[in-house]
Amino acid sequence: MIPTDAKFNGQVVIVTGASSGIGRACAIHLAGLGAKVVVNYSTNQEEGQKTLDTIKNSGGAGLLVQADVSKEDDVARLFARTIEVFGRLDVLVSNAGLQQDATFLEMTLAQWQKVIDVNLTGQFLCCRQAARQFVAQSKKNNDSSGSQPLSIGKIVLMSSVHDVIPWAGHVNYAASKGGIMMFMRSISQELAPYKIRVNSVSPGAIKTSINKEVWSDPEKYKGLLELIPYRRIGTPEDVAKAVAWLACDDSDYVNGETLYIDGGMTLYPEFADNG
Ligand code: BGC
Repeated sequence: MIPTDAKFNGQVVIVTGASSGIGRACAIHLAGLGAKVVVNYSTNQEEGQKTLDTIKNSGGAGLLVQADVSKEDDVARLFARTIEVFGRLDVLVSNAGLQQDATFLEMTLAQWQKVIDVNLTGQFLCCRQAARQFVAQSKKNNDSSGSQPLSIGKIVLMSSVHDVIPWAGHVNYAASKGGIMMFMRSISQELAPYKIRVNSVSPGAIKTSINKEVWSDPEKYKGLLELIPYRRIGTPEDVAKAVAWLACDDSDYVNGETLYIDGGMTLYPEFADNG
């Protein structure tokens, strides 16, 4: 059962891309902290349902909603359904993302477009919808007690260490994540006066299906660990705990930041004995 004083009690959270990996871990972790979680998936209903079942089996509350975050109508429907069922929104974890890898010389426009559509335009559509909802509901519940209110809503974007580490063979992905960095900082600057907090987390190598090709191959796995000073691959839960912190009032004075959850991958590990 969820304790009655859990950190997110009474809060409604949307997690996009919650049918696998980091999104799933965020959904389950936040539900364990008392949030009512909207589990969004794009194509894999069965896996989305598994996330929701895990939440419900632990005594949590949730709702499964299909939506492709790169489609404006789908995003509108995702948020409308959330409000219809839970009546409000407190947190958006804008997580859905994918890779379609190719060398630059070989990359097709379709591969470029797909990654930008989901990873960047999808974040634009979801964040805009969340911000509109936060403003609309705060106008309705205007608190006239005179006390300094905390934020009226929180957004956490899923970025990547590749918002700062260039990545040959993955330029569509790196461009999308680099884009998220300035998108996030710009909307944070614009939304802070409304008392909406916007921040990102940038995971390094986290053991999920997105990089299975690397961690399931012993040689490649060894090479990967050399890029991580802390010498272990991350878990989706490592990221979920950071997301929960950025989404809760403990981080109320944190705006427009990117938190790297990467075991030190961004510390230029190859310089440890060189340079
Ligand atoms: C990518 C993974 C990769 C990691 C570190 C992530 O953003 O999705 O495939 O292992 O960055 O390079």
